[in-house]
Amino acid sequence: MDGQVWFITGTSTGFGRAIAEEVLAQGGRVIATARDVRSLQSLTAKYPERAKAVTLDVTEPAQITAAVAHGRAAFGRIDVLVNNAGYGLVGALEEVTDEQLRVNIETNFIGPLNVMRAVLPVIREQRKGHFVTISAVAAFHNEMGFSVYGGSKAALEAATEAVAAEGVLFGLKATVVEPGPFKTEFIANGLERAAHKIPDYAGTSGKFLGFLEKINGNQPGDPVLAAKAIIQAVNAPKPPRRLILGKYAYDRVRRRLDAISKEMSEWESLGLNTDFPA
Ligand SMILES: NC(=O)c1ccc[n+]([C@@H]2O[C@H](COP(=O)([O-])OP(=O)(O)OC[C@H]3O[C@@H](n4cnc5c(N)ncnc54)[C@H](OP(=O)(O)O)[C@@H]3O)[C@@H](O)[C@H]2O)c1
Repeated sequence: MDGQVWFITGTSTGFGRAIAEEVLAQGGRVIATARDVRSLQSLTAKYPERAKAVTLDVTEPAQITAAVAHGRAAFGRIDVLVNNAGYGLVGALEEVTDEQLRVNIETNFIGPLNVMRAVLPVIREQRKGHFVTISAVAAFHNEMGFSVYGGSKAALEAATEAVAAEGVLFGLKATVVEPGPFKTEFIANGLERAAHKIPDYAGTSGKFLGFLEKINGNQPGDPVLAAKAIIQAVNAPKPPRRLILGKYAYDRVRRRLDAISKEMSEWESLGLNTDFPA
């Protein structure tokens, strides 16, 4: 870890902040980005030599270019990019407005892709680097009310897979992180509610929103332990392509894998009979 440079989006609170603090505590250097850099004052005051605060709203392409250039100028390299910035949007698909849908996809999917595009030339030059994509268990086992949010994360996961494969010849590694509920600001501040309420969805997506509101403050996952796990995984001799965090997420991913496997077997003869005869 000594001297490793981490570029992290969304470090004002939550996972982003916990990862930044843990990297710094372990001797690394951090380009800590946030929409409002005033939120980073305590971090840069504690680590004036090794923490650099940079303004970045991931939906602003010009800010992405500037932040990467700025961060790289500060430390000369970028070893790990953590695409962490993001937020939830909860409600049935019909209940969200066009604007809510668009901004969520721009923040959770297009923004992170643009950050990767800005950092890739640095990785190609260094011939080494690691992309960490903070996804969500909803990308693999989605919930009622998370069509847009889970969809944005699933798209980001699929893109990360391809980017990792494209970068294999110049030393790029990648890890997709799938957390379940962790005690961050995600539900209290980072969860947008659909603008419309349609009574027909009260028992489905409405119920899931109720569940999220009920667990707020008592989420089982500890973001500091998550940060330590992510750093350990990145620095492992063979880092995982997918890191699932917390029992909630583990149970859901396993359940989904079992269901997919069972259904594949049940429908295999029909599905396989669609190729041209050999
Ligand atoms: N906590 C969970 O249960 C959970 C589970 C699965 C996945 N996740 C994912 O974990 C990531 C971090 O969330 P968190 O749980 O740590 O919640 P959080 O405490 O609310 O942190 C979210 C961070 O994203 C930033 N952000 C939001 N929109 C942004 C934008 N357009 N540009 C730059 N930064 C932006 C926020 O900045 P501001 O302070 O400026 O708003 C904040 O720093 C998200 O991608 C989330 O989807 C969280």
